Amino acid sequence: MRKSIIGGNWKMNMRASSAKELASALRPLGSGDCEVVLFPPFVYLKDVADAVRGSGVHVGGQNCHSEPDGAFTGEISAEMLKDSGADYVLLGHSERRAYHDGWGESSSWINAKLTHALGVGLKAILCVGETIAEREAGRTNDVLGGQLRQSLAGISAERTIDVVIAYEPVWAIGTGKTATPQMAEGAHAFIRGVIGRMWDEGIAQQMRIQYGGSVKASNARELLSQTDIDGALVGGASLSADEFAAIVKAAK
Ligand code: PGA
Repeated sequence: MRKSIIGGNWKMNMRASSAKELASALRPLGSGDCEVVLFPPFVYLKDVADAVRGSGVHVGGQNCHSEPDGAFTGEISAEMLKDSGADYVLLGHSERRAYHDGWGESSSWINAKLTHALGVGLKAILCVGETIAEREAGRTNDVLGGQLRQSLAGISAERTIDVVIAYEPVWAIGTGKTATPQMAEGAHAFIRGVIGRMWDEGIAQQMRIQYGGSVKASNARELLSQTDIDGALVGGASLSADEFAAIVKAAK
């Protein structure tokens, strides 16, 4: 039985006071059967970690570098995340794969980050997903398979326990368009098949796969009731304590 996991990806939102307030309001979510991880902006990570300490709610960084230290202006290392109270790191989010004027993150760099972060003792949520053009061209499985194989290359079987996959169709993120539960389940089952071929069926059955893209309290239950959907990565709706709590409740 895979334990459900709901992530709140706050993206570039909140200020110190609202971050602390939201994190404190979410403390009760840490005592249930569902694992809850909050991803605040780096500058509030320690405040949020302090606010949820002892509650069972986990905290993660929204990204990290592949090196521990060095001349990388504006970057944050996995070691720094750990040092600030993070247990998790979010890697390969489509907003980082796509944005930034041509220097979007490649799967091979994401692989280097993932390998380093796991080595430091962080758990990771690895995001994969297709664009609308790729889906319409019938390339969804090729894109997902390619992202998974490249991003997870060389990860040992023992370390896979610390990896969660987030399937986030790019066309569903922040758009209000959600994949239908059947569409999402199809992609999740495909992803589980790829994991099985990369390692083995036991690892495929153990690995948790979250769905992300316009998840809200009103659509969470149906998505989360699908066989291969083990949780959700929530953006916009994670900024409201009530909405986020209702999504976590739907996962239990
Ligand atoms: P959304 O974002 O819930 O606002 O669509 C999800 C994500 O980007 O992780």
